[in-house]
Amino acid sequence: MTGTVVRDAAGDPQSYTATAIDLTDRKTMETQLQQAQKMESVGRLAGGVAHDFNNMLGIILGYADMALRQVDAAQPLHADLEEICNAGERAADLTRQLLAFARKEVIEPRELDLNGAVGGMHKMLGRLIGENICLVWNPGEDLWMVKMDPSQIDQILANLCVNARDAIANVGTITIGAKNCTFDETHCADHVEFGPGEYVLLTVSDDGCGMDKETQTRIFEPFFTTKELGKGTGLGLATVYGAVRQNNGFINVHSEPGHGTTFEIYLPRCVDVAKQARTDGTKEPLKRGPETILLVEDVPALLKVIARLLEKQGYTVLAATTPGEAINLAREHARDIHLLMTDVVMPEMNGYELAEAVLSLDPQIKRLFMSGYAADIITQPDVMDEGVHFIRKPFSVEDLADKVRKVLDEE
Ligand SMILES: Nc1ncnc2c1ncn2[C@@H]1O[C@H](COP(=O)(O)OP(=O)(O)OP(=O)(O)O)[C@@H](O)[C@H]1O
Ligand SMILES: [Mg+2]
Repeated sequence: MTGTVVRDAAGDPQSYTATAIDLTDRKTMETQLQQAQKMESVGRLAGGVAHDFNNMLGIILGYADMALRQVDAAQPLHADLEEICNAGERAADLTRQLLAFARKEVIEPRELDLNGAVGGMHKMLGRLIGENICLVWNPGEDLWMVKMDPSQIDQILANLCVNARDAIANVGTITIGAKNCTFDETHCADHVEFGPGEYVLLTVSDDGCGMDKETQTRIFEPFFTTKELGKGTGLGLATVYGAVRQNNGFINVHSEPGHGTTFEIYLPRCVDVAKQARTDGTKEPLKRGPETILLVEDVPALLKVIARLLEKQGYTVLAATTPGEAINLAREHARDIHLLMTDVVMPEMNGYELAEAVLSLDPQIKRLFMSGYAADIITQPDVMDEGVHFIRKPFSVEDLADKVRKVLDEE
């Protein structure tokens, strides 16, 4: 508020003029902007960390998978190694999630058994909510498959469980359940937001503080939070809502102050299950070949594990940690090299420049680029022409074997 005194010719005060401006909207916008900037920098940070993290996951997954293939499925060690692989893949999913958040990377829906997905997360969720809260998991009987990116399920459950934890003052219980359910036309007539069809219902209930009707109408809004400053960003449920809608599902909430809360998530049944995941623990034999591959990767431990994997698939590998080394190897072995497989981001020279140099020695050499960033690939439109292939880090042994064969077999 600003004010001035209005005086007459003699200088005596006659009246006041004052201007008042309501700053509420500006203040709200300012906080939202700060919030958006925070998310932006978190995203940039996440993107940077994900690069190194992906390389390390590549090493872990590579060795674990290699070891797994040497151990008989009946041995206890086999199950231990499988746990390492599972955890590694889950970590890779989370990194992907971070990248998705940072760069709006596209999701990769696949057929998914929610019983398995939730079961696999149980331990992690338990740690997330702490010891005072009991976590109950009721898997569904003969549960149908859904089609979804597994990291989205992780994200949904983590958000709902953290909210439930925050709603429970001291001790309490969080119950997660899954079951099949079918909506007919009459049911949908009563519930406008629902479409008829077959769904898998995932419920997350808590016996915490609950919410009044007013709060319930706003919970899915981005930045809506009742938590004190610095405690909540109000993005949790907005993300959950986004993920559910992206997969053509529905979300519902039942709650009453003092009587806990139940979130219901309906995900459409996936019927075109082409091939079920193998459950007998054995793996299909990997694709192989006799060719020679020039492999370039600046992280030595990662170079070593990829080289070993390729050698196990029958290939001869010429390994280099720098582009300079790679060019020397290419000169020595010029006519023997069938494929150049190189990292994109390297000191000295990037993967594309290296490929140009190597192809100038022998234009027949095929190219396969490895990268943890989708952005690295997209920002190079000139290399998106035919005959150029990418594999996203970290990759599984199967991905590697399939991709290498695909590139080598291409006309
Ligand atoms: N299980 C629950 N019980 C009671 N209230 C809840 C529950 N889940 C969500 N809410 C209410 O909905 C609001 C929005 O939740 P949301 O997850 O979107 O944001 P947040 O938890 O406040 O912050 P963030 O998840 O971004 O850290 C919460 O602040 C809380 O008031
Ligand atoms: Mg939350």
